[in-house]
Amino acid sequence: MAKPSAVVAGLGFPATVALSEVAAGLVASGKRVIALASGDPDLPTPPHIVEAAVRAVRAGATHYPPIRGTGPLREAIVDKLARENGVCVSIEQIMVAPGAKSALFSAVRALVDPGDDVLILDPSWVTYAPLVELAGANPVRVQLDANRDYLIDRETLERHIGNRTKAILLNSPCNPTGRVATRDELETLGSLANERDLWVVSDEIYEHFVFDGATHCSIAADARYSSRVVVVNGFSKSYAMTGWRLGWLSGPEEVVELASRIQAQTVTSAATFTMAAGVAALTGPQDVVAQARALYRARRDLVLEKWLSTGSVRCAASEGTFYLFPHTPACLSDVEIASTLLVDHGVACVPGSVFGDCGSGRLRISLTAPTDEIEDAARVIAMTFAAMEGSRNLRSRAT
Ligand SMILES: Cc1ncc(COP(=O)(O)O)c(C=O)c1O
Repeated sequence: MAKPSAVVAGLGFPATVALSEVAAGLVASGKRVIALASGDPDLPTPPHIVEAAVRAVRAGATHYPPIRGTGPLREAIVDKLARENGVCVSIEQIMVAPGAKSALFSAVRALVDPGDDVLILDPSWVTYAPLVELAGANPVRVQLDANRDYLIDRETLERHIGNRTKAILLNSPCNPTGRVATRDELETLGSLANERDLWVVSDEIYEHFVFDGATHCSIAADARYSSRVVVVNGFSKSYAMTGWRLGWLSGPEEVVELASRIQAQTVTSAATFTMAAGVAALTGPQDVVAQARALYRARRDLVLEKWLSTGSVRCAASEGTFYLFPHTPACLSDVEIASTLLVDHGVACVPGSVFGDCGSGRLRISLTAPTDEIEDAARVIAMTFAAMEGSRNLRSRAT
């Protein structure tokens, strides 16, 4: 019997999805699980956005839309990019997609040929490497230095750039570390891209969740690099619209044209009526985004305060996203610790090593569950880590 694709068989499910499924199984068997493994906001999609979609369905927006998305949504994205990001593009430089993930795939596939290398800056979102492989290229994983707060530095990047390097995938604010790239880091990356003639795919999906004075800068706003940058973004996180499957990409016309051919030959487009919701999201009141940002920051601070007071969890305040990335006790691997937390204590979070080797010894905790559950989980994690450290100290004293 002929075997199905070896490339696809090698992919597996994203660890975050697999973990959420294990947690769902435990819940189905009657166990209480606090789910901090997925990146799905616990907030509802704002009502004015829902209403816009309902109105669109009633008005007959139930047929194929243009491949690149409706005119009004693409116009709204052009305005948003200029207003919020200082990125000046025309409507021809925008393609709407069914989610940022789909936009990322089309962007990468439009840029690479088989055998090309794409640099991924680890720790990185679990989907990047498989997505690059599916696009036919080789993911080259750049391990950023945990001891330097995962700084993007020229020397480390240079060491990984070779003759086949075609693109660098950038994610700021970063899932899972919560790092927000500084202007200096963007300049390092942009100038190297110029020197070595590389594309940059900039995933900016967490742009609205930045704290404590950190600012999100789009690398596409810098005229020195903009001609080689494809920005990917979407509605899932900012407007709590993960289930709507709506995102977009923006870049040089030539790349957008190729990406739209991929979309035309595969998924066709995002769903027509979701695009009316997208227009409402971008042109409607933005206080919903500010409220979500304040909520995630408050949850972050609550957890950090609890951990600081117990002294058993070492964790930096994330500059952005809705994740925390604490260190785990050294007695066990992060995978074993995540498994103990889930199976013995009913707290689901993601081991840092699934985001790349340099993420090992960490956990990713999503702040997207109800606040009282997050508080409970923070207490359980602190107690579990304290007990693990305690028994390690006892063991080392006994030997
Ligand atoms: C870094 C990053 N990019 C893209 C996405 C995908 O977003 P979408 O739901 O729009 O496909 C996610 C989702 O978790 C993400 O964390």
